[in-house]
Amino acid sequence: MKLARNQLTLNGKTVSFTDGETILTLANRMGVHIPTLCHDPRLDPVGACRMCLVEVTGFNRLVPACTQKATPGMEVITENARITRHRQTLLALYMTDHPQDRNAVEKGAPNQLLDLAEQYQAPLNWGRMLPIRSARDDDRNPYILFNADLCISCARCVRYCAEVERVSAITLANRGASTTVATADNASLLDTSCEMCGGCIDVCPTGAMTEKMPLTRNHKPERELRKVRTTCNYCGVGCQIDLNVDDIANDGRGMVVKITSPPPGTTVNDGNLCVKGRFAYDFIHHPDRLTQPLVCNENGELQPTTWDDALEKAVNGLQAVAKRYGADALGFVSSSRCTVEENYLMQKLARAVFHTNNVHQCAAT
Ligand code: SF4
Ligand code: SF4
Ligand code: FES
Repeated sequence: MKLARNQLTLNGKTVSFTDGETILTLANRMGVHIPTLCHDPRLDPVGACRMCLVEVTGFNRLVPACTQKATPGMEVITENARITRHRQTLLALYMTDHPQDRNAVEKGAPNQLLDLAEQYQAPLNWGRMLPIRSARDDDRNPYILFNADLCISCARCVRYCAEVERVSAITLANRGASTTVATADNASLLDTSCEMCGGCIDVCPTGAMTEKMPLTRNHKPERELRKVRTTCNYCGVGCQIDLNVDDIANDGRGMVVKITSPPPGTTVNDGNLCVKGRFAYDFIHHPDRLTQPLVCNENGELQPTTWDDALEKAVNGLQAVAKRYGADALGFVSSSRCTVEENYLMQKLARAVFHTNNVHQCAAT
C-alpha cells in the first residue's frame, strides 16, 4: 500500500502525522494508549524511563515513543508479546527499589508506577537490589516532602521546575544507583529559588514528592479522597483546583486535606498552580475562621450578633462618616476572593449609593 509523505502505520492502521510530531503524541491523538512515566506534555521529552518503548520496523531495538519523531512510511507496533515482556521487566526492576505496599504511599497522590506494575502484572519477587534510601524529612519547608526511597530518577520534577516554573530549585544529584533529587548544597527548599508552587508533587509519578500538610492534619494515607472541582479565588487568574476531601475526617463532617491541580490540558491553568492556590487552604477549617457576624459592644468587645444587626450598624457608621467628612472620606475595598458579580455590586455601592470613586480590589479586576 502506498502511503502519503505524512503517513505511517500505527498497529496496522494508516494514520497521518504532523511535522515534528512524536509517536507518543500521534498515538495519544489517535486514542492509542502507550504507558509513560517520565513524560509530561508540558515538558521537553527526554526518554529517561523507557516505559514507552514501542516496536518500529527496521529498528533492531525498541524505541521510545516519547522522543522518536514520526517519519513517513514507519510501521509502529505499540502492543505485542515482546513489548509486554519489556514493560514487565522494566517495572519489576523499578519495583526492586520501590515500596510495593499501596498503603505505604498516599492515596490521591499520583502513582503511575504502582498502577502500571498492577496493570502489567510485573513480577514482584525479585527482591530488593539496592539499599533503601531515606526520606528527606530534615527540610524545614512547611509544604513539600521528598521521599528518596520512592524516587525512580525520572527527573519530571526537576524538568518541571526548570521548564515550566523556570526557577531550577532542584536538580538530579549523584550517579547510578545513588542518583537522587537534591538542592544546591542540600539546602532547605526555603533557602533556594523554590517558589513552593508544588508542581514537583503533581508531576511525580511515584509519590516520592508529597505534601506535608495532609500529614499534619492526621489524614490517614490509606483513605480514599473525594475530589471536588472548583475555582481558586485568590486572584483574578481563576485557576481550576480540585479540593481533596477526606469524608471521614473531622468527626465525619469531612475535611479538605489537600488541593491538587486538574490534569494538564484540561483547564485554563494547564495543570499548574501557585503557592496560594495549592497550599493556602488552612483557613477552611481554621478555628479562628469567622462563621457569624461580630459587632463591638459598649465596652469595645466583639460580640456575636445577627446579620440584620451587623448590617444596620455598618450602614449607620458609613452614613455618619459621609455626613461628617464628605463621601470621599469613605473607601471601599473588595477582594479577589469575591465573584465578579460581588465586586460589581461593591463598586455600585461605592459610586451609586455613597457617591465616591474610592473603590478598589487587590487583583484590580
Ligand atoms: S521525585 Fe518523582 S518526579 Fe522527581 S525524579 Fe523522583 S520519581 Fe521523578
Ligand atoms: S492558583 Fe495562584 S495564580 Fe491561580 S488563581 Fe490561585 S492565586 Fe491565582
Ligand atoms: S515516557 Fe518515554 S522514556 Fe519515559
